[in-house]
Amino acid sequence: MPPGGYKIRVYPHSHDDFEQVSIIHPGTMVHHMRRAWSRNLNEWLPDEHEILTAPAVVISKPPDIHTTQAVTAGERVGLIDFFAPVRWDFSNIDGMVVNRAEYPMLPQQPKSYARVATVYSASDPRAASNRRPT
Ligand SMILES: [Fe+2]
Repeated sequence: MPPGGYKIRVYPHSHDDFEQVSIIHPGTMVHHMRRAWSRNLNEWLPDEHEILTAPAVVISKPPDIHTTQAVTAGERVGLIDFFAPVRWDFSNIDGMVVNRAEYPMLPQQPKSYARVATVYSASDPRAASNRRPT
């Protein structure tokens, strides 16, 4: 462990309208993932804490809560994020999207489909989100 310990400040969050693909290169990171809860405790899934060493890819889907933590003893660590669909909020910040010129700007912010009609397949860990309380 480096002097002072590992960085312990992380930023857990979720996205409503887009998926995130993170490429870890170089270095080693821990990707923390928490699945959405339902009202049935038997459906809850344990948190995941995957150790990823470059080159590695991790996908975060809504509404999963996630964060990535660098674990390094001074080595360089890098993370590149891709979002699908394109993030409207990032596209409107100069310098935020490196290849912004390659994409035509939409005239207005796309409609949000967050929590509207998402139905996950039975094999998806988020399928518990499909059932609503009666
Ligand atoms: Fe994210």
